[in-house]
Amino acid sequence: MTIHVHRDRDEQDWHFDVSEYTIVLHILAPEKGGVLEYVPRSRTEVEQDHDVLRATVAGERQALTRELATTPGTLVLHFGRVSLHRVTPVYGATPRISATLSYISTPDGQLNAYTRSRYFGRTE
Ligand SMILES: [Fe+2]
Repeated sequence: MTIHVHRDRDEQDWHFDVSEYTIVLHILAPEKGGVLEYVPRSRTEVEQDHDVLRATVAGERQALTRELATTPGTLVLHFGRVSLHRVTPVYGATPRISATLSYISTPDGQLNAYTRSRYFGRTE
């Protein structure tokens, strides 16, 4: 489990998760932003056509993009391994805080070195 704290202007760019699924408990909502945007079951499409990724990042596929606001107390079961997703920029003095529990069924499974470095400031 990790605690994610997004402060003013923090965001999480578009990505797929390494974990098979994730449970997120929203604890604190910012004044503005911090919305989980996701494109359900988009991984195969994105991997087969990189224009899909470009168009999603450019905001050209809003009809397929779903939004989930940060509401304290909300428990989310998230299938981020197959659904492209991001957290939109947070604005204001109140941070977005959430607890994230990620599950990988393979023994010794872990985030890649880049992600460990970004999340935890170290890879070991
Ligand atoms: Fe994610």
